[in-house]
Amino acid sequence: MTAHKIALIPGDGIGVDVTDATMQVLESAAARFGFTLEPTRFDWSCETYLATGRMMPEDGIEQLRPFDAIYLGAVGWPATVPDSVSLHGLLLPIRKAFDQYANIRPHRLLPGVEGPLKAQGFDILCIRENTEGEYSGAGGRVHQGKDNEVATETAIFTRKGVERIIRFGFEQARARRKHLTSVTKSNAQKYSMVFWDEVTREIAAEYPDVTVSHMHIDAMAARMVMAPQDLDVVVASNLFGDILTDLGAAIQGGLGFAASANICPDRSGPSMFEPVHGSAPDIAGRNIANPIAAIWSGAMMLEHLGEKPAADAVLAAIESATAKGIGIRPGSHGTDAITAAVLAALEENA
Ligand code: NAI
Ligand code: MG
Repeated sequence: MTAHKIALIPGDGIGVDVTDATMQVLESAAARFGFTLEPTRFDWSCETYLATGRMMPEDGIEQLRPFDAIYLGAVGWPATVPDSVSLHGLLLPIRKAFDQYANIRPHRLLPGVEGPLKAQGFDILCIRENTEGEYSGAGGRVHQGKDNEVATETAIFTRKGVERIIRFGFEQARARRKHLTSVTKSNAQKYSMVFWDEVTREIAAEYPDVTVSHMHIDAMAARMVMAPQDLDVVVASNLFGDILTDLGAAIQGGLGFAASANICPDRSGPSMFEPVHGSAPDIAGRNIANPIAAIWSGAMMLEHLGEKPAADAVLAAIESATAKGIGIRPGSHGTDAITAAVLAALEENA
């Protein structure tokens, strides 16, 4: 029997609640589909920081390296630890160390969920470049506090970085509805984004079965609100992808439904799966958090581990639950009730 070694980092706040819910569902799917999950729990969180001065031990990355995948709940507890510390001490180093250059987020309306739009029936896979671009961290400040103060922030686009994310997008499109939309701003940003467009055209030649559209980020924002139905795979830079995926989460009904994965496509290191939402200190530990985003992220992990039938079954179970009205409105059901409904659907559907 295949055993998948999972590094579990529940983190802070509702990260713990939704990780527990997710593992119940994934363990049940594993039992049903004939594989096992071997989770190892790492209690790395803001509490760890307060106790030790570090979000994770000095050799944290080396401890994670041997795992087949990492599952993360959420990190952050701004009342006691600044967000810059928690983010830079745990999440970002993991994404960087394992070269998780593709951040993927599915945006679609689950059955029964009413998004804020009239639009129905959209199914978008947003792929955000996760390592360079506008968030490269290159820049500086001089003459601070003076009236001649200068701040620069340089976006960096490398051929390797752009080629690999575009190629990843085409691979995903090929496995879906065979359409890719590349999002840029090449009318105004005449170096980096024109380069991005050129690379997209080059790679497109390798995928004659996939159709390609080019859109500017501002028009794309409007499109996602007005007519998201025909979008399939959407590829964007770090900044544009960051913004579009928040919009995507909003149109699919909110953070309770927004799943994500940080993928290292060449599998030189483990990939990391996490809901988009944060630790939600306002509702932590009160059986209020919607675990659907987290469970969906868990399904993405199963698919990455090669357990596609189990991943599909988990997603179908989520859909059965929401179709019955479970977890579709804030406050309608508790974390436990939603988890129980997904578990029951997994059993019924099998
Ligand atoms: P948040 O996502 O934690 O919460 C925003 C709002 O959405 C809150 O009102 C919360 O109650 C609600 N919410 C979030 N997830 C929910 C769920 N599953 N079910 C029901 N309601 C839900 O974002 P916020 O408040 O800006 O950040 C809180 C902490 O989380 C901060 O420390 C922040 O840095 C951290 N954070 C961590 C992330 C990560 O670990 N990847 C991502 C985003 C924020
Ligand atoms: Mg964001």
